[in-house]
Amino acid sequence: MSRELTVIVLAAGGGTRMKSKTMKVLHPICGRTMIGHVLNAVAGSGADRVVTVVGHQREVVGPHVQQLMPQALLAVQEEQAGTGHAVRVAVEALLAAEGTVEGTVLVAYGDTPLLEGESLRALAAEHEAAQRAVSILSAVVAQPFGYGRVVRDEEGEVVAIVEEKDATPQQREIAEINSGILAFDAEFLLSALPRISNDNAKGEYYLTDAVGIAREDGLAVGALVIDDVLQTEGANDRVQLAELGREMNHRILTGWMREGVTVMDPATTWVDADVVLARDVTLLPGTQLLGATAVAEDAVVGPDTTLKDCEVGEGARVVRTHAELAVVGAGAHVGPFSYLRPGTRLGAAGKIGAFVETKNAEIGAGAKVPHLSYVGDAEIGEGTNIGAGTIVANYDGVAKHRTKVGRHARTGSNNTFVAPVEIGDGAATGAGTVVRRDVAPGALAVSAGEQRSIEGWAERRRPGTAQAGAARAAREAEESAGPAPE
Ligand code: UD1
Ligand code: CA
Repeated sequence: MSRELTVIVLAAGGGTRMKSKTMKVLHPICGRTMIGHVLNAVAGSGADRVVTVVGHQREVVGPHVQQLMPQALLAVQEEQAGTGHAVRVAVEALLAAEGTVEGTVLVAYGDTPLLEGESLRALAAEHEAAQRAVSILSAVVAQPFGYGRVVRDEEGEVVAIVEEKDATPQQREIAEINSGILAFDAEFLLSALPRISNDNAKGEYYLTDAVGIAREDGLAVGALVIDDVLQTEGANDRVQLAELGREMNHRILTGWMREGVTVMDPATTWVDADVVLARDVTLLPGTQLLGATAVAEDAVVGPDTTLKDCEVGEGARVVRTHAELAVVGAGAHVGPFSYLRPGTRLGAAGKIGAFVETKNAEIGAGAKVPHLSYVGDAEIGEGTNIGAGTIVANYDGVAKHRTKVGRHARTGSNNTFVAPVEIGDGAATGAGTVVRRDVAPGALAVSAGEQRSIEGWAERRRPGTAQAGAARAAREAEESAGPAPE
């Protein structure tokens, strides 16, 4: 039976190299904050208890952590005096809340977005099986500069972690680094924390000193070398943020391709961590699927499409579209160049076509808004066809009003529906109609007046212009042709 597992996530540091008003761990990657990804890994590690240490901007980081993981305990580190101090603050919070700390304690950082729960679980398992006081998740890297080095004796046993600034030139040659993720026996951790001093190059309390302390106590220490180094890599600046973002996107896409999704161009396709895709979905180049977007079987999305928090039904087609909080029914067709704003719901086999903007609009099954229209705060019944260039005038300058069009209606081109207004089932409107009053089911509404033409107007009122010249040429051609033969 495995022991009780507590995970401490350190997130008190400021992250000045981001040069941002946003705290480092709150920067997003693939639709979640960095700390959001870490908490997700922690949740997948089998942790019984989680403590997050907050400091810088704790008024923002604290609530964010509580929202993502309400059961996590928050510990406040007023001043960032080192990782050893941060863990002490966490342990004190645990003792205050629960009276004891037992079993295994893992320490992780809040800025390693690629971390996976399985790696934490593996470290805890090896640590417990080997009955150690401390286990290090280490990595062998090409450029160890800046990291704490894992120092081993002639037998290859771990003896200490030495920080960059405190390392001898020989120790700086060591390629095995401390990833920062450590596992502790709780009892040992409680005894070691008060013994960590800040007598070092940085004047900080180094958590890593606990390794040497364990050895002095004659206790077992060891390291688990992780092959997938990127899992423990932090993003300290915007360059690393972009690199880790690209890597995570690559991992997400690879995962979906293995599940049966076609991604034509992984280099220009971006899929957030919380997106859900079915088998035989096809993503064409330049597609971004963001937030909680879900795409059903056989749907084709792209090229050049951004969907945020959208649902796309089975077999639907979404081309060159920007959509947010919209639902596209099975077999429906959207785009190219469509803008679906929040609250758009397109029924099965419906259509939203080129240069159409929709908002808060329920468009029924098989209904079509094919060209150049705005549909806002409206309900359009099944099978209805809205003519090209129709504008729903939902806003009178003060308030928004609703428009309702019934089933199987046929409205003409270039209409304006002045809300609030209702057009009944099976009704029709003529081209250019301004619908200000309700149209009864089955009725034809026309509002455009009889057309009047003033003959010879261009030549009289626009003399000397190209327009007048063309009019004159046409008149003369007609006159010389004489009257049309009977
Ligand atoms: C630390 C390790 C080093 C390891 C490296 C991996 C120590 C002494 N050194 O060095 O061995 O190779 O991480 O990246 O542990 N934090 C707090 N409170 C503090 C100090 C830090 O919450 O008082 C948090 C930071 O927000 C950060 C993490 O702990 O997320 C690591 O702190 P940082 O100062 O970056 O440690 P490094 O010098 O990188
Ligand atoms: Ca660091």
